[in-house]
Amino acid sequence: MKHEIIEKNIGLMIVLIIFTISGGFLAEVVPLFFAKEVNQPISGLKPLTPLEFEGRDIYIREGCHVCHTQMIRPFRAETERYGHYSVAGEYVYEHPFLWGSKRTGPDLARVGGRYSDAWQRMHLYDPRSVVPESIMPGFPWLFDTRVDATETADKLRAYRKLGVPYTDQDINTAEEQVRGKFEIEALVAYLQQLGTVISSKR
Ligand code: HEC
Repeated sequence: MKHEIIEKNIGLMIVLIIFTISGGFLAEVVPLFFAKEVNQPISGLKPLTPLEFEGRDIYIREGCHVCHTQMIRPFRAETERYGHYSVAGEYVYEHPFLWGSKRTGPDLARVGGRYSDAWQRMHLYDPRSVVPESIMPGFPWLFDTRVDATETADKLRAYRKLGVPYTDQDINTAEEQVRGKFEIEALVAYLQQLGTVISSKR
């Protein structure tokens, strides 16, 4: 049988496997590099401000993404609850993506503006003060720790290398925009802009 020839010849098998996978890669992945809707920012998308940027780093450090996704799938059950489904162009400035894979808590892709700053602060200090049945942990140390501003400019510079359009002015003023701010301010600033470029909710 012809198939036996392949199965008994590992060299030939490797060549054929590589051939098959490259075919899949060509058909599925390569077109994405050229598809506009995937690699162009949606209109109105701006890079995070230095304060929001530091907030995002705190979000990652505290592991918020372990319990929360940032990706609304195009299903009715999702859009009814969270708002407009996520589109690729919203994420072109994100390195790395924070889509997440597990929802212990709700999706946060469009949580920006859903609650007041005061609500966000109370919730992060002690979630059960505003949502009695919540199982989310509190993060009280964010209220007395200041943002480390010494590397903010370097971080923005690194992101510019990755294609995020930060200007020289953004980078030069980054440290002073962030210096002295508490971590909670940075995190809430980050949360309040999430998903707000596409605003049609519900
Ligand atoms: C152990 C899992 C867990 C972690 C870690 C966690 N959360 Fe939550 N989060 C939840 C759960 C569960 C809820 C729903 C109950 C509630 O509102 O408190 C929630 C709700 C929220 C909400 C309200 C969302 C909405 O639409 O009502 C926000 C905002 C939020 N979390 C932000 C954060 C941030 C920021 C962090 C990191 C500092 C974080 N969470 C870490 C589990 C978690």
